[in-house]
Amino acid sequence: MFKYNCLNPIAKVGLERFTDNYKATDNISEADGVLVRSASMHEMELPESLLAIARAGAGVNNIPLDKCAEKGIVVFNTPGANANGVKELTIAGLLLASRDVIGGVNWVSSAKDDENIAKTAEKEKKKFAGTEIQDKKLGIIGLGAIGVKVANVAKNLGMEVWGYDPYVSVDAAWNLSRDVKHVLNVDDIYANCDYITIHVPLLDSTKGFISEEAIGKMKDGVIILNFARDLLVDEAAVLKAIKAGKVRKYVSDFPNATTAGQDGCIVIPHLGASTEESEDNCAKMAVKELIEYLENGNVINSVNYPTVDMGPCTDNARVAVLSKNIPGTINKFSAVFADLNINISDFTNKSKGEYAYTLMDVEAKITDELIAKLKEVDGVIRVRVVKN
Ligand SMILES: NC(=O)c1ccc[n+]([C@@H]2O[C@H](COP(=O)([O-])OP(=O)(O)OC[C@H]3O[C@@H](n4cnc5c(N)ncnc54)[C@H](O)[C@@H]3O)[C@@H](O)[C@H]2O)c1
Repeated sequence: MFKYNCLNPIAKVGLERFTDNYKATDNISEADGVLVRSASMHEMELPESLLAIARAGAGVNNIPLDKCAEKGIVVFNTPGANANGVKELTIAGLLLASRDVIGGVNWVSSAKDDENIAKTAEKEKKKFAGTEIQDKKLGIIGLGAIGVKVANVAKNLGMEVWGYDPYVSVDAAWNLSRDVKHVLNVDDIYANCDYITIHVPLLDSTKGFISEEAIGKMKDGVIILNFARDLLVDEAAVLKAIKAGKVRKYVSDFPNATTAGQDGCIVIPHLGASTEESEDNCAKMAVKELIEYLENGNVINSVNYPTVDMGPCTDNARVAVLSKNIPGTINKFSAVFADLNINISDFTNKSKGEYAYTLMDVEAKITDELIAKLKEVDGVIRVRVVKN
């Protein structure tokens, strides 16, 4: 029986995945796993019993990742679970920037007392005329979970799609429409595209990606969309470019003092993933990751330990070792098994930065002596019997 603690409300459709082998607890000190959305865990006491934390969402800045890794607590997130929600809002952003729907709707509200509103509208509507997206070029920077979905839909809406991502994953590449033009130099997107949308993570290396210099290379009248993070774009430079007529519209999902209420900016209050479906998908994925780790020892989508997936254990026993990433450790583990005359039938060892994770399936029963000897190996943080 495993116990889990929810630090925030988690969608029911996710929690329903727990079988009778799981029990909810309000007391984190007895929990094997924690599910969390936005609650800050930085000041929290983390109990020895805690094996894993699953964040229903992508960002993990509310979780002390290093402290968790040091204590052998695996932290998971749910990449891509909200990608469809963000994709749909990005497409809405493309349309809102092209057709002055917002201006038009506001005009209708302001003219609500006009008895002849239908007639007046016919005269006024030219103020809100726009352009169509079909046959226009859309440049996508970052072809991950969201970028690929945006690319495929935009293609189906009749746009010519150009994509830039020097680190594109094999999975993403498989899912990307073959009609998307893959460029190797982002300047090609700047020079050619009518719309540019950015879908990269905010890292030191991507901060200010869309700089004043980049904007200078763009086509006149370009529309820039930012549903990733505001700091990816030099927004002061965008405002200058809007005033100069270089940028037609800037659509952002991140309100701040720079862009809120500014002419040419359409600023949305961070609604990208605010859908019932996104929250459900995140909860389902977080619970699945927790179950996979607690029951099988497999680590999928962790942010502080490497991915290790050996499927379910088909042998007699499985042992997991969380350790520091120190050269020679694997030899020491196998020496422990050899000394006790226990055969390892399957084995995976992976590292991520300072930490490593080793999963071993064995033919014999795992004994207290074996566990004690594994714990003595230099750098070992936690030894866990997954199956015995
Ligand atoms: N608006 C919202 O509510 C919302 C919701 C979810 C995610 N996001 C943001 O969207 C971002 C993307 O999300 P995702 O799920 O697609 O992430 P992802 O990890 O699946 O994809 C990110 C892609 O960016 C690429 N990339 C990284 N550095 C790059 C660079 N220098 N140049 C070009 N490409 C680069 C990566 O190779 C990867 O393919 C997230 O990091 C997050 O900041 C926003």
